[in-house]
Amino acid sequence: MPGLLVTFEGGEGSGKSTQLARLAARCAELGIEPLVTREPGGTPLAEGIRGLLLDPARRPGPVAEAFLMEAARAELVTDVIRPALAGGRVVMCDRFDDSTLAYQGGGRGLDLEQLADWNRAATGGLTPDLTLLYDLDPAVGLARRAQAPGPLNRLDREPPEFHARVRERYVALARAAPGRFVVLDAALPPERLELLGWAALEAQLRRRGLIPSA
Ligand code: TMP
Repeated sequence: MPGLLVTFEGGEGSGKSTQLARLAARCAELGIEPLVTREPGGTPLAEGIRGLLLDPARRPGPVAEAFLMEAARAELVTDVIRPALAGGRVVMCDRFDDSTLAYQGGGRGLDLEQLADWNRAATGGLTPDLTLLYDLDPAVGLARRAQAPGPLNRLDREPPEFHARVRERYVALARAAPGRFVVLDAALPPERLELLGWAALEAQLRRRGLIPSA
């Protein structure tokens, strides 16, 4: 498929969404208008599912939670991501299927093979070309999140052990797919983090001929 799918992953408070915005701005400076979206979300239905998933008043079980994530994903992939890639766009997605493996797999303890099957059903086998993992000690991330404006969402409120398992799973996923993942130290200052993320993204853009070779 033409186009380029870049996903941004990490724990709570890792700064990935800020970094995504910075890298999207750098693309725009080069005349590339990326399609920026997020998971769960990115379509009216999926944003509705996001509201249900993040609402602290709700208590879905692990399987229901996973299915809601997959339902939102299926809609986003079909309606937004695949058409954009088919049109040659660069798609930057704030979280994608690795989040399910990290949160519902690592965090909740659901079977990884089972989750990978559900992911494949939702994505139709679409895999990111590049995944930037913003790796951070969850204690630091959660402290940042607690200081940010707005209430904590349902998943932010999970205990520290949950977030530690999420991080461990992310690191294991990155080790298992070193050609796709670039792991970044999210404790670095934002400017430095931006440079490192851009180096990885720029290399992909060049490889795809989306910007001229240096
Ligand atoms: P965020 O995108 O603002 O970080 O919030 C989304 C939350 O949803 C975050 O806590 C991670 C969680 N999540 C999952 O548990 N599984 C998933 O598959 C996705 C996409 C997100």
